[in-house]
Formats: sequence, structure tokens, C-alpha cells
Amino acid sequence: MRIFKKKAAGINSLMQELDHKNLPEHVAIIMDGNGRWAQKRKLPRSVGHRAGVENVRTVIRLSSDLGIKALTLFAFSTENWKRPQDEVNVLMDLLVEYIKKELNELNRKNTRIKTLGDLNKMPKKVADEIDRAKETTKNNTGLIVNMALNYGSRQEMVSAVKKIASKAMSGEISIDEIDENTILKNLYTADLPEPDLIIRTSGENRLSNFLLYQAAYSEFIFTKTLWPDFNEKEYLKALIEFEQRQRRFGAI
Ligand code: FPP
Repeated sequence: MRIFKKKAAGINSLMQELDHKNLPEHVAIIMDGNGRWAQKRKLPRSVGHRAGVENVRTVIRLSSDLGIKALTLFAFSTENWKRPQDEVNVLMDLLVEYIKKELNELNRKNTRIKTLGDLNKMPKKVADEIDRAKETTKNNTGLIVNMALNYGSRQEMVSAVKKIASKAMSGEISIDEIDENTILKNLYTADLPEPDLIIRTSGENRLSNFLLYQAAYSEFIFTKTLWPDFNEKEYLKALIEFEQRQRRFGAI
């Protein structure tokens, strides 16, 4: 009981430290370190992924309660297919299980599910659940939970270039009209603000083909904490650190 109170007190004081008017509109997270979290406990990697999903719940709940507009989560990359088939299956099953269990609650919280990535390659059972989640939540106006599935930023840019080229060839737009905004509007994130804050857990300091174009002016927070341990306190601390950064967008 004492421990619980102490934990709650920590969260409360961080909540007070946070300037609720200065929050990022769009947070994007590379959820890394599930495997190492499990390894440290001599558990199978699948247990680490399960713990990772539990933490997805925590971070979505807090983002929604804080009134953040969009949360993009890197759940499965175009490179993740290279993992052993068993592990790929575990991740796919966890996604289906997560949506089945959580959709009512996500809907009740007024969150809207969206995705980025090429869903054509996802197993049908995953694609079906995702479609159902999108359809159920399509009119919701709260937090946008944007799941990156079979996502790679370079592949996203290739697809944007193809869309723009085909519009140019059909005469819908002229070559001279193509500008930075044309590219932004043809990415999967077209209707979202650019990410203000990108967090990567587990001590890896790279973007790994995540939101390369959109990240031009993002703030980055790299933390050593493994994803399943990135709890409310860690998230609040990252948001407070974001608020202390000076964002100049190239100006002085
Ligand atoms: C990185 O840890 C994590 C992933 C590749 C998958 C992330 C996916 C989840 C947390 C579940 C997604 C579910 C939902 C509901 C969005 P790693 O396996 O690369 O860890 P390691 O680097 O320590 O091996």
C-alpha cells in the first residue's frame, strides 16, 4: 500500500510539473527492447512482446487522458518480416488479440484507430481486425492511435512518388506545382500534424526507417529504458523534457 501511494505521488507531481498547454500534438514512438526485457528475466521473447502490448495500453491511456492529438506507434516494420516465423506469428497474434480485447475501451475513450504502412501484406486475420477497428472508431474525435504496420519510411516515400508521378502524368497536377507540401500530402500521415516528439526506447539511437520525411523538425528523446518498462512516469518525464526544449524550426 505504501509503495502504491509513493508511485501515485510520483505521478501526481510529474502531472503538476507538466504544462498541459504546451504538450506535443503528435507523439511517435519506436517501441524497442521487448526481447531484451524478456532475456533479462530468462523468459521467452514472446513474453517480452506481451509485456510490450500491456505498455501500449498504458501509453495510449495516458496520451488520451492528457488530450494529445495523435500517437504513432511503430508496431511492425517492413524489416520485421526477417525475424523467425514463430516470432512474426506471435506479433500478429498479439495484434489481433489486442484489438479484440481493447476495441470497446478504445471506442469508449473516443480514440480513433488509423494505420500507416502497406496492409496488403498483413495476414488476413490482422487486416480484418484492423478494418473493424478503423470502421468502429471512424467518427471518434479524441486521440488518434496510428499504428505503423508493415511500415517503412523509404517504402512510404516510394509510394508517395508513384502517386505524385501518376497525378502528373494524368495532368491532375503540373511538375512545377510539386513542392514539399505535395510530398507531405502523399505520405500515409497526410492528415496528421508532423510528429513534434519522437521517442525511442532501449538505448538505440537511430530512426530505423521511421517517419524520415516527417521528422525534419521533430524533437528526439532516446532513453535506455526498455519498452515494457517505459511506464507513465517515464512518459511524463519525456513530455516534460520535450516542453523544456526550444524549437526554432530553422529560425533564430
Ligand atoms: C521491438 O522489440 C519491438 C517490436 C519489433 C514490436 C513492437 C510491438 C509491440 C510492442 C506490440 C505491438 C502491439 C500493438 C498492440 C501496437 P525487440 O523485439 O526488437 O526487442 P530487442 O531489440 O530487445 O530484441
